[in-house]
Amino acid sequence: METCTTCGRTFTLEFAYQVGMVGAERRTFCHLDCRRAGLGEASHSTARRARVIAVLNQKGGTGKTTTSVNLAAGVAEKGFDVLLIDMDAQGNVGASLGVKGEHTLASVLVEGRNPMDVAVPVRGHLDVITADESLAAAEVWLARQDDAIAPHVLASRMTAAMVQRSYQYIVIDCGPSLNLLNRNALTYADEVIIPVTCDYLALVGVRQVLRTIREIDKHVGHAVRIAGVVPTFFDPRTRLARESIATLQGHFKERCLEPIRINTRLAEAPTHRKTIFEHAPESHGAEDYHRLVDWLVTHQAAEAGVATGATL
Ligand SMILES: Nc1ncnc2c1ncn2[C@@H]1O[C@H](COP(=O)(O)OP(=O)(O)OP(=O)(O)O)[C@@H](O)[C@H]1O
Ligand SMILES: [Mg+2]
Repeated sequence: METCTTCGRTFTLEFAYQVGMVGAERRTFCHLDCRRAGLGEASHSTARRARVIAVLNQKGGTGKTTTSVNLAAGVAEKGFDVLLIDMDAQGNVGASLGVKGEHTLASVLVEGRNPMDVAVPVRGHLDVITADESLAAAEVWLARQDDAIAPHVLASRMTAAMVQRSYQYIVIDCGPSLNLLNRNALTYADEVIIPVTCDYLALVGVRQVLRTIREIDKHVGHAVRIAGVVPTFFDPRTRLARESIATLQGHFKERCLEPIRINTRLAEAPTHRKTIFEHAPESHGAEDYHRLVDWLVTHQAAEAGVATGATL
């Protein structure tokens, strides 16, 4: 165990960034924030370079959209500038928040429209780039591009427009596949959050996540970090769900996050065009997503990394 030089907490040394030298003096830090404070390094927010987080699982109905919408909304409620991008032709993000953009993600990808012109403000600190069926045609268009270009279109459009300078978080709600659209999301993302249902055999869930991670590694040339696996549809009353959590925790250790309980309020909220915090702020759903939001904003990108190779 080490003691954090900045906050005095004891912690287990795990990542390279947790050790810093000032001259010959060795300092240890439990969090990136403590390192920044302790070494006087620039903070993430002043640099204004967004953390790009893809919410992905190739299996359908695992809570990706619910997680993307409520995570983005919860982080925005804390005062961070957030862009939520719908990367799914089902267009559920816009439908959940009651917004229909004049232009959609397809026009960014295919026509090269400036993403900053396509993003619509939906709540304080929260902008959205919506999607609709036209995204399916955009995928066909992507497939016709050169192999070297096709997976990078989103990243190059976003980078050219310097979108990352305008937001602190960019959350991408991916569709249930590992198609070319999601490969674009992964190429652009720094981190991936994988929601996995714990309503059926745990090992199937683990295998499903491992397969997703393998596919991600195969498709993406740069290190995308698996920031966390989020167990969803958790019903604490069932043995199956409790076993699921235990198995996921066994495999993913601290990267298995606190579960999101099954909660009908979460299913209702989108039909009212509301986030869970607006629809039922006292619900279990709001409580669980608040916890996830807190985790995201306190765990900096560099901490969250199975794929970084930065572990000690
Ligand atoms: N914790 C929960 N408790 C109850 N209902 C939930 C919960 N999470 C999500 N739902 C509901 O389950 C359905 C599927 O969730 P969601 O749309 O978020 O999954 P998805 O992974 O985005 O699906 P798809 O793969 O089709 O994009 C939705 O109707 C949603 O409102
Ligand atoms: Mg979805």
